[in-house]
Amino acid sequence: MNMNIKDITNDITYVGVNDRSKVRFEGLWPLPYGVSYNSYIVKDEKNALIDTVELHEMPDLLDNLAKQLPGGTLHYLVVNHMEPDHSSGIPTIVDKFPEIKIVGNKQTISMIQGFYHIMDPDRFIEVKDGDEISLGSKTLKFVLTPMVHWPETMMTFCPETGTLFSGDAFGAFGALDGGVIDSELDIEVYYREMYRYYSNIVGKYGVYVQRAMAKVANNIGLDNIKYICSTHGPIWHKYMERTVALYDRLSRYEGEDGVVIVYGTMYGNTSQLVEAIAESLSARGVKPVIVHNACTDEMSDIISDAFRYKGLIVGSPTYSMTILPPVETFLRAMETREVKNKVMGAFGSFAWAPAALKEIKEFAQIRLKSPVVGEISMKQGFSEALRPEIEAMADNICAALSVK
Ligand code: FEO
Repeated sequence: MNMNIKDITNDITYVGVNDRSKVRFEGLWPLPYGVSYNSYIVKDEKNALIDTVELHEMPDLLDNLAKQLPGGTLHYLVVNHMEPDHSSGIPTIVDKFPEIKIVGNKQTISMIQGFYHIMDPDRFIEVKDGDEISLGSKTLKFVLTPMVHWPETMMTFCPETGTLFSGDAFGAFGALDGGVIDSELDIEVYYREMYRYYSNIVGKYGVYVQRAMAKVANNIGLDNIKYICSTHGPIWHKYMERTVALYDRLSRYEGEDGVVIVYGTMYGNTSQLVEAIAESLSARGVKPVIVHNACTDEMSDIISDAFRYKGLIVGSPTYSMTILPPVETFLRAMETREVKNKVMGAFGSFAWAPAALKEIKEFAQIRLKSPVVGEISMKQGFSEALRPEIEAMADNICAALSVK
């Protein structure tokens, strides 16, 4: 039973579901607060459903529809995004509402045919960028926003109510606890989960997010949007401006003040160096300083913090003449997401032959396009003799970050 049915604005109702049982989103990312799959009905002379939910949650969506549908039927299913967390319910909806027309763009339709083998061309209404469909007194206008987060993604705008159905854009992990609109919720939990959602899921596509935001601003006008209805997380209304600004900053790879230290250690020697680096940054007024041991901390949290803050210091012991594998995994995750323009420091430890530090520096400068402004090399155990290098790295990081 899903309790989250909620009228958002005139004749637009939230009918999505909470998933509190999925362990890892995309098979990769933990969900400590669950996740919502958001689905909406626009009620009019013709009723439209905006996106479905993941297959195992479809019974709850059907329950919600049974309670909410005027005339008991749906005329249109608008598919803004084909990732299966939103599209795997499409065959169920087609079975339940045999007359329904599926509205999507050319790529959407091709994907529906490929994933779900729904082949009848009469089933589909193909829309192009800027096309509109009238439901009676309301209109749905389609804005194609490719690669936010798949190539077929689009947004749907209802001008009469100022409601933007934005697909994954502006989404966050976290089931909707009680309310569905931002003002009803403990919003800071969702903002933390938005950083994790953006950096892990959408982070690679910053340039496309920027294009989509410009297109929405030009074709719809931000002042005309009163509600942003994403596929995951709260409906943004009271905090819409903050949310749009955050997405804008994230998609421009513009970090916030603060330094994240990511390292690995086998026996704790490198940890001693890390403590000294963190203390020296803190003593100079850097805040926050966030330390992540890549061998033990959750990778999605590490990626999220590294994405969020301007300063990044990465260190590793030399392991088989290269970087310790969890630290390398982290660096590759940064590269995959095309992270750039960090202010970076690098450190390496070794027992008899140094290798990790050189590799980390090359990775930072070449693949992450980020200058390395300080480095430390530690042979065997920590010693106070390293202090000058530690202080120099802290000074250089602070100068580059303009910490006063
Ligand atoms: Fe929530 Fe890209 O799917």
